Amino acid sequence: MKTLVVYYSRKGYVEKIADAKIKAEREQGNEVDFLSLETLSNTIGFDGFRSCIIKTVSGGSMELFPYETDVASYDKVVICTPVWCGKVALPMKAFLTKEKHNINRAEYVIVSMSGGNTDAVADEMDKILRLKREKYTSVQCVWGKIKKEEDFQ
Ligand SMILES: Cc1cc2nc3c(=O)[nH]c(=O)nc-3n(C[C@H](O)[C@H](O)[C@H](O)COP(=O)(O)O)c2cc1C
Repeated sequence: MKTLVVYYSRKGYVEKIADAKIKAEREQGNEVDFLSLETLSNTIGFDGFRSCIIKTVSGGSMELFPYETDVASYDKVVICTPVWCGKVALPMKAFLTKEKHNINRAEYVIVSMSGGNTDAVADEMDKILRLKREKYTSVQCVWGKIKKEEDFQ
């Protein structure tokens, strides 16, 4: 089983959670690679934060820094994303939109301040990929501290 863990992390919180997922997958004997997405848009500091919000609520998009990973060569993709304004973060949305024909099996790790049921974000990703996720894990992360992790279908 060849698994790709792909993540976008603005401040490094999701990155830490993705690292733990990579470790857990390796411990299960799975062959795992990872891809860290970077965007060409400014997301840094207050101006970057404001721009993330404005682009998300206005239905905008964010361009990705090019990557070389051949997504189609993986059996399964684990998508680790923060929630932005109740939606999938725009850099991850750009990745899903670009790779929708190359992903057949997907699992999500959805990170937010509020945690709990994040079906709306999981459904949004299913819709872009035109598949039904295998499961998703909702992680409540408050200023980098993990408060709760729950699995959902
Ligand atoms: C632009 C923006 C919008 C956010 N919107 C939400 C939200 O709607 N609900 C929520 O629970 N958390 C929201 N968050 C919090 C993030 O999902 C959370 O802090 C996450 O851990 C960020 O991880 P990262 O900094 O590694 O990308 C938002 C964060 C940002 C930057």
